[in-house]
Amino acid sequence: MSTTYSMLGGEGPDSYREHSKYQGALVIAAKENINEVISTKLDIDTSSNLINIADFGCSSGPNTFNAVQIIIDAVELKYKGESSLKDKEFQVFFNDSSNNDFNTLFKTLPPARKYFATGVPGSFFGRVLPRDSLHLGVSSYSLHFISKIPNGIKDRDSPAWNEEIHCSGSSEVVEKLYFEQYKNDVGGFLNARAQEFVSGGLLLLLGSCRLNGIQFFESVEGMMVDCIGSSLNELAKQGIIDQQKLDAFKLPIYATQADDLKQIIEDNGSFTIEAFEKITHGKGEYPLDTNYLTLAFKASLGGSVAALFGQDAMEKTYELVREKTQEMLPQLAKAKPGMQFLIVLRKN
Ligand SMILES: C[S@@+](CC[C@H](N)C(=O)[O-])C[C@H]1O[C@@H](n2cnc3c(N)ncnc32)[C@H](O)[C@@H]1O
Repeated sequence: MSTTYSMLGGEGPDSYREHSKYQGALVIAAKENINEVISTKLDIDTSSNLINIADFGCSSGPNTFNAVQIIIDAVELKYKGESSLKDKEFQVFFNDSSNNDFNTLFKTLPPARKYFATGVPGSFFGRVLPRDSLHLGVSSYSLHFISKIPNGIKDRDSPAWNEEIHCSGSSEVVEKLYFEQYKNDVGGFLNARAQEFVSGGLLLLLGSCRLNGIQFFESVEGMMVDCIGSSLNELAKQGIIDQQKLDAFKLPIYATQADDLKQIIEDNGSFTIEAFEKITHGKGEYPLDTNYLTLAFKASLGGSVAALFGQDAMEKTYELVREKTQEMLPQLAKAKPGMQFLIVLRKN
């Protein structure tokens, strides 16, 4: 995977840590469902005292710490009253791509944590952990990333040329290519996890997909990415950034529809779907607040803009994004629901 796409690291005012409360609210909203599914569906060998947990696409915190804690609490609740619980130890593997800000993640680990922490750099589309080692895993707002931009998308002379910086859903040809890439990547993700998980282990996917029938451009996320694209186009017209570079700038993200993701998981066959639920998100949809929205999408996508066009151009882009977001508020108020699912898979 390209090493240029990562969340804004550090603990500064623009960082992902400071502006990922929307993503973090989903796992908290899903807590009861997670307790229930771990209590009834986790089916692992209880004679082992080591429980291994991984977060795939952990970023630099703090959402990953909440997700991991919710899982550990649920496991402790399940085995409450059993004498073996006091001997159980938890090991957590924090996975993200190698350019993730693992230093901030390690520096800010909760001091009172009851687990051993390990960083695992590498793409989750391949193996990152030993065979048959994992009991529980989570991946929150990460499985809509794809490993590469499909052929033709960046090429002005190709019938699949995509003028937009992402797959908004406005072109069928473009959507088909992104979907093929996505299907292949999710298949790779599931195959890798199938080798790493013990039988009966649970994998929780949060965020992940959109409701059937909703196009990405109809959601707040889609509208905000479109807004970043049109801001970059304006800067290219003013000669501030290079048009050719912009033509090649495509975000490796694709939000599929719920039924399509379900089908990919079923066709893969390594996991059984134990839950596939639309969650009532703790924050509802994104708040209609220009500052909140600009900073949230700067924290998650600004790093990739800066990596290609430089820090100054990134700051200019987001000044424009702020202006455009303010004008777009009435449109954003009518946006359709975003990616708010809890999917629970049990390893066969
Ligand atoms: C939007 S962030 C979500 C972070 C965190 N899970 C949360 O809920 O706030 C997506 C994360 O997935 C990571 N990611 C994307 N593709 C990846 C890949 N192929 N392998 C590992 N991590 C990846 C990104 O680097 C980023 O940190």
